Amino acid sequence: MRNIKPITDPSRPKVYIETYGCQMNVNDSEVILSILQDAGYALTETIDDADVILANTCSIRDNAEQRVWGRIDQFKLQKRKRKNVVIGIVGCMAERLKDRLLETVDIVAGPDSYRSLPALLEAVTPESPQMNVLLSHEETYADISPVRLDRNGISAFISIMRGCNNVCSYCIVPYTRGRERSRDAHTIVREAQELWDNGYKEVTLLGQNVDSYSWEDVNFARLLEMVAQVNPGLRVRFSTSHPKDISDEVIYTMAKHENICRHIHLPVQSGSSVMLEKMRRKYDREWYLERVDKIRSVMPDCGITTDVIAGFCGETEQDHQDTLTLMEKVVFDSAFMFAYSERPGTLASKVYPDDIPYEVKTARLNEIIALQGRMSLKSNEKEIGKVMKVLVEGPSKKNPEELCGRAGSNKMCVFPSKGEKPGDYCEVEVVSVTSATLLCRRID
Ligand code: 5AD
Ligand code: SF4
Repeated sequence: MRNIKPITDPSRPKVYIETYGCQMNVNDSEVILSILQDAGYALTETIDDADVILANTCSIRDNAEQRVWGRIDQFKLQKRKRKNVVIGIVGCMAERLKDRLLETVDIVAGPDSYRSLPALLEAVTPESPQMNVLLSHEETYADISPVRLDRNGISAFISIMRGCNNVCSYCIVPYTRGRERSRDAHTIVREAQELWDNGYKEVTLLGQNVDSYSWEDVNFARLLEMVAQVNPGLRVRFSTSHPKDISDEVIYTMAKHENICRHIHLPVQSGSSVMLEKMRRKYDREWYLERVDKIRSVMPDCGITTDVIAGFCGETEQDHQDTLTLMEKVVFDSAFMFAYSERPGTLASKVYPDDIPYEVKTARLNEIIALQGRMSLKSNEKEIGKVMKVLVEGPSKKNPEELCGRAGSNKMCVFPSKGEKPGDYCEVEVVSVTSATLLCRRID
């Protein structure tokens, strides 16, 4: 069995990794650690004894980048104490800012250059910082077994593709992560099997747009099925789906396999067809609502979550109202909600002025957040009396006598313990709810 655990051997040089951004970045940090462990490094959880400090970064919104600039200043304090410490910025921000970062840190490496990290670390000196920001059309890190950094050893990410070929006009990702490419399906199935053999109970298949997965004659629906067949006890999740691409075949495949979790993250971004057109999402409000209807007609219990952007270029009060009415219609289980942040180099930044005043953006975002709170509660109230199978994650944060874990729909459940461990399944019935949690009783 290949090693998927962190090595903490004190005789090895130590790497500390901080991760920002999406689940794909979390998994990339695991790939980076695997590459560095093979090159003789070990992981440290404390920055104070690190020989190498890495930040795996995100560029999706300006505030994500600002946080990292603040952290770089703190990393540099470490250099005052130990002048040989190497500071590396990797990931999306490295790709976007390149030389600007190289002026201030030792190593800059983009998302497709992680295999070169050992060589960059070998070559780096205080006088010669090192950079590799080449994007690739092929790199999928297919042969690398990520070193798992999750704490409980039950749920893991598997990247099934990299990059993105959509050109949503607001989004920096196609520029930081390059062209879309799908990973060899056999290596994905092998990784899922390896996780199962190591005691994992849940895998989440990751891609910017999983519906466009395509490797030889394997499409996403087929891949889902192949992973679901690894073991009926292995739960399969995936993220992110694109409303323009999610196919009936995927929906029916989910319905066919009990261990494919009934949850779809389907970012809508806006409820206004005018905004969706300017965002280049390639669907409109009606199309989105039809996809939701289709999902619910096949799987009435399917969780649907979303992303919403408030205050995109030229957004009128009517457009904003369209977002609110769509949210009321769909009743999402939960949502990630953001104020539009202009990203230099994107299509929107070139052709549409970022013209919604800060106060208006914030007010609209707050309205969206408040509405979603009510919708989450409404969606949870519908679960009262239902029986669900929950994968135990650990003790509940509020009451250590109780357990918490997620239902297939991805909703968080809290229920009395009978001494189960993380990774065990429990059957529960929902008794009462908050907007964030289902409070349940045991029926097993
Ligand atoms: N500004 C605000 N939010 C954005 N997202 C992507 N780009 C931007 C941006 N420029 C949001 C989208 C996407 C999620 C990952 O981040 O909602 O689905
Ligand atoms: Fe992930 Fe996008 Fe942020 Fe890159 S920019 S880390 S792809 S969310």
